[in-house]
Amino acid sequence: MEQDKNMRVGIIGAGWIATKAAITLCHLTNVEAYAIASRTLARAQEFAAKWNIAKAYGSYSELIADPDVDLVYVATPHSHHFGVTREAILAGKPCLVEKAFMANHREAEEIVTLAREKRVFLAEAIWTRYQPAVKIVRKLISDGRIGEPRLVTATLGYSMGEKPRIMQPDLCGGALLDLGVYAINFVRMFFDSRILNIESQCVKSKTGMDLTNSISLVLEDGILANLQSSAACVGDNIGVIAGTEGNIIIDNINNPQRIRLNGPDRVFVEEIEVPRQITGYEYQFLECREAIADNLLEPYSMPLNETLYIMQLMDGLRRKWGVRYPMDDF
Ligand SMILES: NC(=O)c1ccc[n+]([C@@H]2O[C@H](COP(=O)([O-])OP(=O)(O)OC[C@H]3O[C@@H](n4cnc5c(N)ncnc54)[C@H](OP(=O)(O)O)[C@@H]3O)[C@@H](O)[C@H]2O)c1
Repeated sequence: MEQDKNMRVGIIGAGWIATKAAITLCHLTNVEAYAIASRTLARAQEFAAKWNIAKAYGSYSELIADPDVDLVYVATPHSHHFGVTREAILAGKPCLVEKAFMANHREAEEIVTLAREKRVFLAEAIWTRYQPAVKIVRKLISDGRIGEPRLVTATLGYSMGEKPRIMQPDLCGGALLDLGVYAINFVRMFFDSRILNIESQCVKSKTGMDLTNSISLVLEDGILANLQSSAACVGDNIGVIAGTEGNIIIDNINNPQRIRLNGPDRVFVEEIEVPRQITGYEYQFLECREAIADNLLEPYSMPLNETLYIMQLMDGLRRKWGVRYPMDDF
């Protein structure tokens, strides 16, 4: 893709997050929602008409085969990321795949290996990683504004009812892959030292999926992280990085809007504004555009090895809790 050309995005699956993507892309000048594919042609046509999208396909394969699609954006449930991403990579199409990246580490490793072999761009759409708040918070930490970081806490909770995507094992249900992944990324994007110890527990649904979970990580650099996620309640969704000289409070960890810095004794120091955004989803698309134009095979903000590391971590947690999907080999 040339530097000055529009990146034409093909969206796979006309659901909730696909709509958010379409709303976002309407506002960008060099990235456009060009095609939508649904398992139902009428649904694709309706979506295309609503969001002014040029092409509507009644199958995912037709969109992948469209030579004018520059980036395939996979917006199906996690259970259905693997097949469609594999097909797209084999067709040589750059892919941006919603979180959780795959059902498990085995699937993730197979897809990453394939993309590397075929030299096709691949990225996980964990939107928080691409947002400007990451640099702001990293700078506060590296400038020593909170002294030595010692404790990270983060909660993400939404009351999601009996959503099939959360309740069903065959759709890779549970809070961990849907919400806990943000809490884990919240720690890892600021502190990526080796994890020395993990303690965790969860409360399960009748269908055997983790509805509410708690994870405690001890990191090699002397930081303890306590993370909670829940698909069963309204969380405060706040992240706190506490250091010897102050703390940083991030509201919220799933799209930061306010970053508050407190000094010793929790005395307010400053509130840092996050740049005005469309929806917050624009950053991942803009970075894909830049990376593909630069002939990169993965984005800077979320390296594929990091995606793999987090998938492996989530496998370990699910194994301990006995939360299993049909595609697991453990
Ligand atoms: N980044 C974020 O903030 C964010 C927020 C929410 C969700 N997500 C991620 O986005 C993905 C989709 O979530 P969503 O909330 O958009 O889900 P959703 O509303 O249920 O939409 C998923 C779409 O996938 C397609 N699909 C294909 N096979 C399916 C199956 N067996 N069962 C159900 N749908 C199937 C359907 O589209 P067609 O019928 O049109 O083919 C469906 O509309 C998940 O991986 C989720 O983690 C990300």
